Amino acid sequence: MEKLHDLLIRYNTSIPQESRTSWSKQFLAARFPEYWYRVYSLLMGIDRDSRVVEIGCGQADITSILCYLNFKNISAYERDGKLAHLAEEKLRSLFGKEGIVILSEFNNQTTTDADVLILVNCVYADGIHTKNEYLDRIISWYEAANKPRYLLLEFIDDSYIEEDEGFPKCVRLNAQDVRRIFPNSQIEVFPTYKYPINKKSKNLYFITTLS
Ligand SMILES: C[S@@+](CC[C@H](N)C(=O)[O-])C[C@H]1O[C@@H](n2cnc3c(N)ncnc32)[C@H](O)[C@@H]1O
Repeated sequence: MEKLHDLLIRYNTSIPQESRTSWSKQFLAARFPEYWYRVYSLLMGIDRDSRVVEIGCGQADITSILCYLNFKNISAYERDGKLAHLAEEKLRSLFGKEGIVILSEFNNQTTTDADVLILVNCVYADGIHTKNEYLDRIISWYEAANKPRYLLLEFIDDSYIEEDEGFPKCVRLNAQDVRRIFPNSQIEVFPTYKYPINKKSKNLYFITTLS
């Protein structure tokens, strides 16, 4: 993991200042965000032949874990053209990999087959007004990925009660909400950010759907 960490810091430092997004700056620091380490260790236990779909890869910092761990079948969706291009460049330069990044919005019209679905650091309330709409969107994405066995989903926790326009209360979930939409599953919860130490509170859910 240390080698990947060093590789990413060196690469991310070489990106021009103007291309650095607010969230990508945390991938320049000596200690990466907690969700990054957690995703890494959870992926270690998953078969490398699994089909992995990542929604919202940004500049491919999480996607880099997948490449480093030698996952062979990765589709990383990114709707922003500039970021998708940066992500492609990074994966080519660090791992010699191409054809991973898909410049497209992942939505309920997407059709793909995944064994693992990853949605981390990717909470957007666009078009969402109620918690049920938000939960429905998560389920529709799970179905669009053809009901993968494993899900790594990071959500803002509803223990975070500050007013926050970007992250309204309807996109803040608790463990019961997640259990409600994935009833026949084994669910593990890992805190990744905690307000007020961090700007908000978030949890990473590792969901294994039971057949
Ligand atoms: C905050 S960034 C995080 C990137 C990455 N997951 C990480 O942890 O570093 C979220 C990215 O998701 C992209 N995004 C959000 N919703 C998306 C969707 N439905 N389909 C494709 N990309 C999406 C945004 O354009 C943005 O680049």
